[in-house]
Amino acid sequence: MEEIVQPSSAKSKDAFAAQSVPQLIADISDVPMSRISSAIGELDRVLGGGIVGGSLILLGGDPGIGKSTLMLQLALAMPNTKVLYVSGEESSMQIKLRASRLNQQNDLCYIVNETNTQAIFTHIDEIKPDVVVIDSIQTLQTASIESSAGTVSQIRETAAELQRFAKQTATPVFLIGHITKDGLLAGPKVLEHIVDVVLQFEGDRNHGYRLVRATKNRFGSIAEIGIFEMLQSGLREVANPSEILISHRDEDTAGVAIAVTVEGLRPMLIEVQSLVTPAIYGSPQRSATGFDLRRLGMLLAVLEKKCGHKFGVKDVFFNVAGGIRTEDPAVDLAIVAALLSSSLDIPISSKDCFSGEISLSGEVRPVSRVEQRIGEAQKLGYKRIFISSNNLKQTQRFDIKIVQISKVEELFRLMLQDK
Ligand code: TYD
Ligand code: MG
Repeated sequence: MEEIVQPSSAKSKDAFAAQSVPQLIADISDVPMSRISSAIGELDRVLGGGIVGGSLILLGGDPGIGKSTLMLQLALAMPNTKVLYVSGEESSMQIKLRASRLNQQNDLCYIVNETNTQAIFTHIDEIKPDVVVIDSIQTLQTASIESSAGTVSQIRETAAELQRFAKQTATPVFLIGHITKDGLLAGPKVLEHIVDVVLQFEGDRNHGYRLVRATKNRFGSIAEIGIFEMLQSGLREVANPSEILISHRDEDTAGVAIAVTVEGLRPMLIEVQSLVTPAIYGSPQRSATGFDLRRLGMLLAVLEKKCGHKFGVKDVFFNVAGGIRTEDPAVDLAIVAALLSSSLDIPISSKDCFSGEISLSGEVRPVSRVEQRIGEAQKLGYKRIFISSNNLKQTQRFDIKIVQISKVEELFRLMLQDK
């Protein structure tokens, strides 16, 4: 069939007249966005101080990590807030059972098993919730597209419908999303563009601790992280991250070192463990949990070159204790210490800790917020902290002994002396 194109008249031009009015930037009011508290302090922290009205927030993570638990806790914890929890994954009965386990109650929390977005919007019209939780985006389906739930086009379209709803009504909407094996949020990057905030739930299923990081936040910084512990009765907030460490060892063990890191804005001490053994079966093995394997390879190469240590003929296994994953470059020094300690079989004192980045040339480089790190180590009763010699400018008074080193070889020598 032929398409008839109407010649554009002066009248139809009016029809396209802009509804929007450009404003001078100086005239735009800069009243801060209103935020409401999620009643979960650690979640408010990652969100940048609470939930912004009308925001679409994606919570991603591996299956079984605790996404549904966290969202149900939020639904139950928010006082005087009507929450609609839409589940396409579990029956209302299962959710009720979980709620009883959490020991929390909210008379304004509604649960519905639904996956069709048109039906969901009908429920929303009736209930008029203050907050909506969708568990999960992969189960949703809109009638406007003919493809099955979980496909990229369904994920994109249903998320866009929810985004429009959120913006029009200023209602915050949380979307739960599963992460695929390679770490990408399913329905790949499309979803990350549509939503305002992307939160990643991390941790090891076999360990209790969980971190929530923001990888995108249109309304705040992505510097902060939220820390939780999964207990029988749900997720407990961990306000003081240093409690996680804390290695309960009394004796000094070879291969174990304490790193003083800063996660978000808070200092946190973590234990790194390494096992270095002669490689018997051909090519040496390398494995790293909670740390970038390539960076571990780089640190091994530096040690090989600068300390003449033959890691090339050894198997190296590395692990960050507690199922934690860290990206703070300041852990380098502790890792190097742990590797040398295991390889030489020289234990590191359990009263020593480390904070320094290692460069390719083997230099120990300064780290951010060094005073805060030293202060935390001192508070936790450590006797010595190893840092870069270029780090501490105005020497604040500390009771803890500060050992300043400039090259990785110095650490090696100090360790051999202790032998
Ligand atoms: P869940 O929230 O269902 O994970 P997700 O939605 O990310 O798939 O959490 C599942 C795990 O958490 C499950 O292995 C049981 C555990 N869990 C607890 O240990 N304590 C609890 O109070 C709850 C509710 C769950
Ligand atoms: Mg779930």
